[in-house]
Amino acid sequence: MNASKSTIAPIPAGELARRMLSAKAEQFTESVIREMTRLAMKHGAVNLSQGFPDFAAPAEIKEAARQAIADDINQYAITWGAKPLRDAIVEKFERTQGIRVDPEREITICCGSTEAMMSAMMAIINPGDEIVVFEPFYENYGPDAILSGATPKFVKLRPPDWTYDERELAAAFGPHTKAIILNTPNNPTGKVFTRNELEFIRDLCVRWNSFCITDEIYEHILYDGAEHITMARIHGMRDRTIVINGMSKTYSVTGWRVGWAIAPPEPTAAIRKVHDFLTVGAAAPLQHAGAMALKSAQSYYDKLAASYAQKRARLVKILEQAGFTVFKPRGAYYIMTDISRFADPDPVRFPADTKDVRFSKYLVEEIGVAVVPGSSFYNDARDGASQVRFTFCKKEETLAAGEARLARLAEQKSA
Ligand SMILES: Cc1ncc(COP(=O)(O)O)c(C=O)c1O
Repeated sequence: MNASKSTIAPIPAGELARRMLSAKAEQFTESVIREMTRLAMKHGAVNLSQGFPDFAAPAEIKEAARQAIADDINQYAITWGAKPLRDAIVEKFERTQGIRVDPEREITICCGSTEAMMSAMMAIINPGDEIVVFEPFYENYGPDAILSGATPKFVKLRPPDWTYDERELAAAFGPHTKAIILNTPNNPTGKVFTRNELEFIRDLCVRWNSFCITDEIYEHILYDGAEHITMARIHGMRDRTIVINGMSKTYSVTGWRVGWAIAPPEPTAAIRKVHDFLTVGAAAPLQHAGAMALKSAQSYYDKLAASYAQKRARLVKILEQAGFTVFKPRGAYYIMTDISRFADPDPVRFPADTKDVRFSKYLVEEIGVAVVPGSSFYNDARDGASQVRFTFCKKEETLAAGEARLARLAEQKSA
């Protein structure tokens, strides 16, 4: 036995990566955002990088999950989602956005909005298809495009208001444009797209016969009177819009992995097939708890937004005091900042190609605060080289600890 073992030659070094692994997977790296959380833990840093709350989820929602398990909701739900949750989504979408959808033919419950987005892209993309993506963009959209086989066309959102240039956007559309990916309220910029902007995008989608896939996971996290308008509500877009949403951010349960896609019957049929063979379904008891969560009174959503407004004010002040140029968000729970006023950290001690990554390494290792380098939100890393993103979905103690550590940065700057 031993002799026959020794005759099998090992796979030559480099061969695995070169010939035996997927060329698609070779094209992207692991998530920088999630990597920053690991670095925060390694260096004992205050984690203001990844967008997950570090405070408790609402007691009633947790109780509903406990009850669902006690009631033996332990087996697969229908692959496209438990009926009570689909019904609750219909009711809430109509109450908040005035659109009635069919729970039997227009909703697919997935493992988080992450899977809903991937299933939607895989359901509509063919070889040669292009998608239009605003940048800076939520980093998942890059790998989503590669894995589904779409060619992304990037269009800049520019600070301080993160507006787009209409001519640039129009030029990104063409006969091969299958879809535009929208994210409003937006991560990382906090931009909330206005009705006028949505109507301009609508005109391009209609002209080029494209879908709009709109990630609306921060729909309830809005400031200064900003209004969330779903693209599905824009006249002429109901038939060509795929709405992506989920429980993660609205109910502070990012680890539950419950999200959904709302789309017209034909794309939904395709999304459901992809979803079925990707994951079969999201956790059944948590879908039942979701049904209860979505019935929360309006006061719940008002309190959520008010609490985040306070946290936003707190972090804006902390960052301004520390010397960052702050772009105040109108929605979601992130702050993009400009770091041009800070010196570039030593590239020998903090090796990286761009300043934002060197600065983020310096922050996490020396100052003790984890952030996300701006380049991870851009196709060309150089475009994000003078930006870093902070999140404020954190307890007051966490923000206060971040404040104390960032003060050291301000001291060094003035020294
Ligand atoms: C814009 C955006 N979409 C989707 C997600 C992930 O959502 P889920 O937890 O539902 O997969 C995030 C998480 O940060 C996000 O910022």
